[in-house]
Amino acid sequence: MRKPVVAANWKMFKTRDEALQFIYAVNDQVPSKDIVDTIICAPAIHLRSLVKRQGENIRIGAQNMHYADEGAYTGEISPNMLVSTGVSYVIIGHNERRRYNNETEDDVNLKLIAAINHGLIPIVCLGETAEQFEHADTDYILREQVRTAFKGVKAKDVEKIILAYEPIWAVGTGRSAPSELADQKCGLIRKIVGDLYSAECSNKIRVLYGGSVNTSNCYDLLVKPNIDGALIGGAALVADNYVQMCKQAVEALNFKENN
Ligand code: PGA
Repeated sequence: MRKPVVAANWKMFKTRDEALQFIYAVNDQVPSKDIVDTIICAPAIHLRSLVKRQGENIRIGAQNMHYADEGAYTGEISPNMLVSTGVSYVIIGHNERRRYNNETEDDVNLKLIAAINHGLIPIVCLGETAEQFEHADTDYILREQVRTAFKGVKAKDVEKIILAYEPIWAVGTGRSAPSELADQKCGLIRKIVGDLYSAECSNKIRVLYGGSVNTSNCYDLLVKPNIDGALIGGAALVADNYVQMCKQAVEALNFKENN
């Protein structure tokens, strides 16, 4: 059974005090790291403070990074810098980065390779726009996104990567994808990885769902066979809600193990 992941994506929310309040509130409340990977992806300016205060069951992630080790890239943050800060995860290719910062599929690929080379665990976001969804282009888009993202990635590294299916029409809209659809697309992503590599890679890679996950729909999504966890924005800004969703991940896992 794949270990579930519950990753919070704080986006550009929380002052330093709010970030610290959150980590103190959740540290002792989240399930054991042996059962769930509990990850807080915070604004870069808070990463070091959070790493210093992370409880034994929490890990901290960045929301973006540059692919180069260093260079004249004003305002950017390198993989080396993240590693030296004690960060373990990094979100790559979030649709807001693609939309507002012109990130391309090739950038996603370069960043994915850089993350692996530096021992950071990438959480790579994939997903279609509303228009592509309406035109039934989702499967084609996902195939192209996975193919490009994995260019040059070795089979031995595939299981370290976390993928997140985030239909753009569901992110921040309060309109989550229905759990059957999310499960089907996460299953498709798993199959695409299997076609590129092997059945073993396809079985091991974790595929999350993201897009308006909240305390009311989290269990229904995570209990689906192809959904290994969630990437959660808005609903993960409130400590109690975040803890509740981590607990739902454990319940969903228990259900899957017994059925
Ligand atoms: P949301 O964001 O949960 O607020 O829809 C998800 C994400 O951006 O990863």
